[in-house]
Amino acid sequence: PLIKYVEHNGTEHQIQVSNGQSVMEGAIDNMVDGIAGECGGSCSCATCHCYVHEDWVAKVGGPNEIEEGVLECAADPRANSRLSCQITVTDELDGLVILLPESQY
Ligand code: FES
Repeated sequence: PLIKYVEHNGTEHQIQVSNGQSVMEGAIDNMVDGIAGECGGSCSCATCHCYVHEDWVAKVGGPNEIEEGVLECAADPRANSRLSCQITVTDELDGLVILLPESQY
């Protein structure tokens, strides 16, 4: 599936991410700036914070309680915030648009 990452400055990256990988892994593997993923995907660091494009919020779904707690530590959390390590790529998400925050710190 093709995932589109849009940096805060508008730079777009269209990346093929394998099914079963997380949106965070797709960014890290392809050196997309704006996602750090310091905890390696265990839902505890908030440095993989991203915003899901409004057209995709319903399909991607919201965070669970644990993720919600971690998101509170992110800079500038919003209603469409997710931890990208907690979004698993599937064919359903082909074309997903992920907006990257200005900073992870
Ligand atoms: Fe740490 Fe996602 S990589 S919370």
